[in-house]
Amino acid sequence: MANKLRLEGKVAVITGGASGIGEAAARLFVEHGARVVIADIQDELALQVASSIGSDNVCYQRCDVSDEKQVNETVAFAVEKYGTLDIMFSNAGILNPFESILEMDMTVFDRTIAVNARGAALAVKHAARVMVANKIRGSIICTASVESILAGAAPLAYIASKHAVLGVVKAAARELGQHGIRVNCVSPFGIATPMVCKSFGADAAAIEAKICGNANLKGVSLTTMHIAEAALFLASDESAYISAQNLAVDGGLSSMMKLM
Ligand SMILES: NC(=O)c1ccc[n+]([C@@H]2O[C@H](COP(=O)([O-])OP(=O)(O)OC[C@H]3O[C@@H](n4cnc5c(N)ncnc54)[C@H](O)[C@@H]3O)[C@@H](O)[C@H]2O)c1
Repeated sequence: MANKLRLEGKVAVITGGASGIGEAAARLFVEHGARVVIADIQDELALQVASSIGSDNVCYQRCDVSDEKQVNETVAFAVEKYGTLDIMFSNAGILNPFESILEMDMTVFDRTIAVNARGAALAVKHAARVMVANKIRGSIICTASVESILAGAAPLAYIASKHAVLGVVKAAARELGQHGIRVNCVSPFGIATPMVCKSFGADAAAIEAKICGNANLKGVSLTTMHIAEAALFLASDESAYISAQNLAVDGGLSSMMKLM
């Protein structure tokens, strides 16, 4: 398996591909033979990532995932540049600092829903339109979170948005199954990416220590590459009959309540 190119000939759009999980996925997907469009709003960083991958098989397209026109244009760009679209990895997301519900800032709530939930719905919609029109039996993957299953450490807006992502995935998998299109989620536990460090106002080492302390599975630290590997599985033909699933990459945490 190690030497097999698991995405050979496939074309992918990865939103939030300039950093963290999306960046790891962009590297891994290209390594496995895919041609990748990184879609993000951090131009400089995304261009650096694309150039450090060092392949003609990766490029950057600016795209704010909450803007339907930009998502539509990004999908069209991928098809124009690489000839098709087999994989949509809807991964861009934001996490606001913790706030009490009693003091909830509704503009923050609206923006979180716009990026995380509306962004996922738009990615699904525009990828599916191209896939259905061209009879492509594609794979759509959304990054949700353990916060799509339980209410952990995040604020209400984030938890609500990630529960919504799971709803988007299930509804899309139901309708798109007739076209041979699979739709799934990956749901990570914690990783000290820029989004998380900024939200908690702490450095990566402090966040990692906190995450390791709260983890169920000891002896291994969750990394962005672990999530990219899960997305690779869902993007590849190895998961050919898997749809509407929420693949928790959380060391089992979301399946248990530890009483002792
Ligand atoms: N890191 C974790 O602990 C964790 C846990 C569960 C879920 N997630 C999810 O993983 C996904 C990736 O986050 P990450 O941890 O890699 O963080 P990150 O900060 O490293 O990456 C997020 C990326 O999304 C991009 N982005 C933000 N808003 C955007 C927009 N409107 N349009 C396009 N791109 C936008 C950012 O520019 C950034 O490149 C998010 O959906 C996040 O909710 C992360």
